[in-house]
Amino acid sequence: MRLAGKRAVITGSGRGIGRAIAIRFAADGADIVINDLNVQGEALQTLAQVEAHGRRGVLIQADLSQTDQTRRLIDEAFAQLGPIDVLVNNAGIEKRSPFADVREEDYDLVLDVNLKGAFFTTQAFVRQLIAARRPGKVIFISSVHEELPFPGFSTYCASKGGMQLLTRDLAVELGPHGITVNGVAPGAIATEINRALLDDQPRVARLLEQIPLGRMGKPEDVAAVAAFLASSDGDYVTGSTYYVDGGLAWNYRE
Ligand SMILES: NC(=O)c1ccc[n+]([C@@H]2O[C@H](COP(=O)([O-])OP(=O)(O)OC[C@H]3O[C@@H](n4cnc5c(N)ncnc54)[C@H](O)[C@@H]3O)[C@@H](O)[C@H]2O)c1
Repeated sequence: MRLAGKRAVITGSGRGIGRAIAIRFAADGADIVINDLNVQGEALQTLAQVEAHGRRGVLIQADLSQTDQTRRLIDEAFAQLGPIDVLVNNAGIEKRSPFADVREEDYDLVLDVNLKGAFFTTQAFVRQLIAARRPGKVIFISSVHEELPFPGFSTYCASKGGMQLLTRDLAVELGPHGITVNGVAPGAIATEINRALLDDQPRVARLLEQIPLGRMGKPEDVAAVAAFLASSDGDYVTGSTYYVDGGLAWNYRE
C-alpha cells in the first residue's frame, strides 16, 4: 500500500475524476478529505467507497472560486484529519462559447474555479507545510488543453494554460522546501463534464478515430497516475505534466 499513513485533500471529489482519485488513494492506504460544492449528494458515495477501503474520509464543503473558502478548506482539513501530505487540485468547470460572445461573468467563473481556486488552495496548503517544515506533494489536474487549442472553450484554455506554467514555476520555487509540484493532463475522459459529447454518438465516433488507443479514458486511468505522483515512487519528479490521453494529443484535430 504505497500511500499508507498519508493524508490527502482532493478538491471536487464528489464525482468524476476527483472521486476516482479519492477511491484509488484510499485503496492505496491514504485517509482522504473529500471536498465539493455540495457534500450531501454524490459526495456521500465517494465517502462510502473511501470507507469501504477501511480508510478515514472527511467531507468538507467549500466553493473554491471563493478565496476565503480555499483557506477554510485547508484549515479544516488539517484540523479534522491531521497534517496533510498531498493536495490534488481537481475541481474544474468548462463553459462553451465562441470567443466573441464570452461574457465576463463566465470568464470570471471558469478562471476563478480552475486557476485562482487551485492557486489559493495550494498557497494555503504550502503555508502549512513550510510552517511545519514538512515535505509534501501538489498535483494539478490540468488538461491536454493546457497545450492544445480547444475552439469554443477559450476560458478553459486560458485557465489550464495558466496551470501549466504555475506547475513549472512552483516546482522551482517550492523544491527547496521538499515540496513537489506536478500536473496530470487528461484527454477525453468519460465523466459528466463531457455529458453533451457522450450523448452525441457521431461526435464520439469521430473523437475515437483520433485516439490511438481507441477508447475514451476512464477516471481510474487518471487516478492511477495521480497515485504514482502522490507516492514515494514519485519523489524525484517535479515540474512535470503527465498526459493521460490514449495518445490523443499527438493526433488531435478539432
Ligand atoms: N473529463 C475529461 O475529459 C477531462 C479532461 C481534461 C481535464 N479534466 C479536468 O479534470 C477535472 C475533473 O473533471 P471531471 O471530468 O471529473 O468533471 P466533473 O464535472 O464530473 O467533476 C468536477 C467536480 O468539481 C466540482 N466543482 C466544480 N466547481 C467547484 C467549486 N467551485 N468548488 C469545489 N468543487 C467544484 C463539481 O461539483 C464536480 O464534483 C477538472 O479540472 C477538468 O477540467 C477533465
